[in-house]
Amino acid sequence: MAKPKAKKPKAKPKAKPTWAGRLPGGLAPEAWDFLHSLPHDRFLWPYDIDGTRAHVSALTAAKILTAAEGKALRKELLSMKAHPELIEDTDEDVHSAIERVLTVRLGEVGAKVHTGRSRNDQVATALRLWNKDALLGVHKAVSKLLRSLVSQAEQNISTLVPGYTHLQRAQPVTIAHWLCAHGFAFARDLDRLEAAKNTTDVSPLGAGALATSTLGLDPSVAQNELGFAETFGNSIDAVSDRDFLADSVYACAMALTHLSRLAEEIVVWSSSEFGFVKLPDRYATGSSMMPQKKNPDVAELARGSTGIAVGALTGLLVTLKALPLAYDRDLQTDKQHVRDVFTTTIGAFTAMSGLIGGMKLDAGRLREASADPSLLATDMAEDLVRSGTPFRQAHEEVGKRFPRSSKTSPPKSAPRASVRARSTSGGPARSSVEGQIKKLRKRIQPTR
Ligand code: ARG
Repeated sequence: MAKPKAKKPKAKPKAKPTWAGRLPGGLAPEAWDFLHSLPHDRFLWPYDIDGTRAHVSALTAAKILTAAEGKALRKELLSMKAHPELIEDTDEDVHSAIERVLTVRLGEVGAKVHTGRSRNDQVATALRLWNKDALLGVHKAVSKLLRSLVSQAEQNISTLVPGYTHLQRAQPVTIAHWLCAHGFAFARDLDRLEAAKNTTDVSPLGAGALATSTLGLDPSVAQNELGFAETFGNSIDAVSDRDFLADSVYACAMALTHLSRLAEEIVVWSSSEFGFVKLPDRYATGSSMMPQKKNPDVAELARGSTGIAVGALTGLLVTLKALPLAYDRDLQTDKQHVRDVFTTTIGAFTAMSGLIGGMKLDAGRLREASADPSLLATDMAEDLVRSGTPFRQAHEEVGKRFPRSSKTSPPKSAPRASVRARSTSGGPARSSVEGQIKKLRKRIQPTR
């Protein structure tokens, strides 16, 4: 898209509702305070300007505007784009602000801009344009974390760690295998973000209030100019559909749910009780009172951020539930639900990728923990199976030797041999983990 010129156009405030012809008395002050949406939609300014320019192109293509009128409007819009300060507190919303400024500056030509358009298709268009950008930001942040995980995995391909079920020691694995497990979850999050981008990539412009217009506007003109993959299939649906927001917020909520699981393990593993992980100083905090403390606040706040996204998803779905077609003013709250979700998700993933990239594994503690003979109980039972004992019997025999585990102490190299023997694809053996790393590396190639 062309860069907006840096000049600041002049426009005096003269906000009269767009619908003042029908209701000239104006709103009661408390109704105005309650209804006007500038506090929540000001951020759509550049996106709504792009949408408006595309609408001007459609009006010009349909010969509703002359080429000269179209040119004047497009030029003016471009010069306004970097100047959201043109919005006045007396504007009802970002959409009427744009129309007001154009009308103040261009007179009659400005007053033609809303021809064949409604704020219903206008807001849906701006919101989708913004959402595409926001999703791209989240996608980048999740990829960044995945990159940090994969680099740590490459450095720890033979670092042993007990694998856990029920947070009880289970079987030996490696740090690389564990990191890749989180990595596969984040790779699915990238898929979900891409799917949300696809449902977002539809242009609603031309749907009008709900039933298009009588002016013969071609929706594909705006669609092409705005870079949407397709135009709406049904104009009623186009103005009432907010699935793309729900899909996007769900993708964020799921990604943050995954991040919270990683963060929780970092919190636990960096405690003195586990001591597996040393946090990088720049991603840890101290205590205002206790001089000795080094706290995992980044991981904790990442874990806590999940609540914001899950809350937003619930709020948005509750707003959408049982809304009659087509547009209803309830939809105005969509922005309030979703806006923080994207910034929170990006912040959490970006900070956590710094933490994961910079953390150090404590080889001594990990070696000690991985030497726990109980980790090899299943291997011992499988040894008996190999010499013909039915598994249930082998399980019982080995089970009887625990918890008197000292009697059963296997040789020191045993956890390493156990990992080596688990070379099934997807398992912890070096060759298997190398395959997993390769798959994840492919997922974060910048071409996606
Ligand atoms: N501020 C409104 C919103 O965000 C714009 C659409 C208003 N449309 C209407 N018919 N009142 O949803």
